[in-house]
Amino acid sequence: MAVHPNGNGKAKDSVKTIVVLPGDGIGPEVTSAAVNVLKDCSAESGRHFEFVEMPFGGIAIDRCGAPLPAETLIACRAADAVLLGAVGGPKWDGLPLDLRPESGLLGLRRELGLFVNLRPIRVRPALLGVSALRPELARGVDLEIVRELAGGIYFGEHRTEGTDSSARATDVESYSTQEIERVARFAFDRATRRNNKLASVDKANVLASSVLWRQVVTKLAGSYPGVKLDHLYVDNTALQLVIAPRQFDVMVTSNMFGDILSDGAAGVAGSLGLIPSMSWGLGPSLYEPIHGSAPSLAGRDVACPIGAISSAAMMLRESFGMDAEAAAIDSAVDHVLESGARTPDLATPRSTVAGCSGFTGRVRESLHEQFSLHERYGWGV
Ligand code: NAD
Ligand code: IPM
Ligand code: MN
Repeated sequence: MAVHPNGNGKAKDSVKTIVVLPGDGIGPEVTSAAVNVLKDCSAESGRHFEFVEMPFGGIAIDRCGAPLPAETLIACRAADAVLLGAVGGPKWDGLPLDLRPESGLLGLRRELGLFVNLRPIRVRPALLGVSALRPELARGVDLEIVRELAGGIYFGEHRTEGTDSSARATDVESYSTQEIERVARFAFDRATRRNNKLASVDKANVLASSVLWRQVVTKLAGSYPGVKLDHLYVDNTALQLVIAPRQFDVMVTSNMFGDILSDGAAGVAGSLGLIPSMSWGLGPSLYEPIHGSAPSLAGRDVACPIGAISSAAMMLRESFGMDAEAAAIDSAVDHVLESGARTPDLATPRSTVAGCSGFTGRVRESLHEQFSLHERYGWGV
């Protein structure tokens, strides 16, 4: 596939360029599932997508000597949207932090100016029985975690001095008013489009950066009188997510707290493999499942593709305004789960276990059925 930057003479509206970064481990398996679903939607809608696959992560270290090669960044900057699988794995774990696949991901988010990461956590009715929580706690959970993505401790200084018994390692957590305000504004706006409820999560009883976080969010609340704002400490939030997750609608928090709380919340939904995300900001949005490269599953065709497929649906909805196609993907996934087909992470004794590709095939069949119903009766059937 050739790089096809915008401004090459084609009308931008007629072709959407999607840069695909499969990455490492299960990344290529789950992105291939998502790309196939996007191709189905493109064929159905008449909207043309051009897919540009680029090296990223560990595989890019092996092939190009860096996790985020310059050509990959150039292609991402020129894209209408970016789809990412996952990066990292034991092969690269011995490298210094700034040369590892994960640093490529942080670099990509920073270079594209993506300061918001939206992680929706929804308990699908068909999966009530696989939630880590009892059904009466999990039923109806539908929340969004807005994670700050371009600042905080992941982007602060990382320093190690001395060695062995005299070693000291330091990581710096730092936030400015402007960094807090821009992500909080996104979260307030999101809350106004949902149930007007926002939980801001911090550690303001200990951390100076959290004291500022709370002040800035509180001040901004004055511009959103219709939104009910609560402040919670992060330790209590971890508890509340497992004892009463339905209390949450939109949650906004720092980079590290959002990273940790969203993996925990995925257990409420039933599996880490289920959760999609959108990274949003100044440049093209980046869509990726929140899970990692799951090295023990890689190459075995057992990974759950739902997080990646749902990331594709988020791309259609949030970047391309293709709400009907996005909804069709979501209901195709529900339909297949209701039929009892499950990847191993979601299986119960009554399930028909399918692999990543088999499950995706079922989703695509269901999608085609919906599209033919649409042709006959219109959307809304
Ligand atoms: P992980 O998310 O890869 O796996 C955590 C657990 O979830 C494992 O038990 C895994 O088998 C399971 N899991 C993950 N995705 C799944 C899926 N699609 N279907 C079924 N089960 C799934 O996290 P980890 O083991 O802590 O990290 C592995 C590597 O991935 C590390 O190198 C880490 O740095 C990297 N990582 C990358 C990203 C990313 O690219 N966005 C995110 C997290 C971790
Ligand atoms: C995620 C991952 C990444 C992060 C790592 C791999 C840099 O855990 O996307 O959740 O911390 O953001
Ligand atoms: Mn994570």
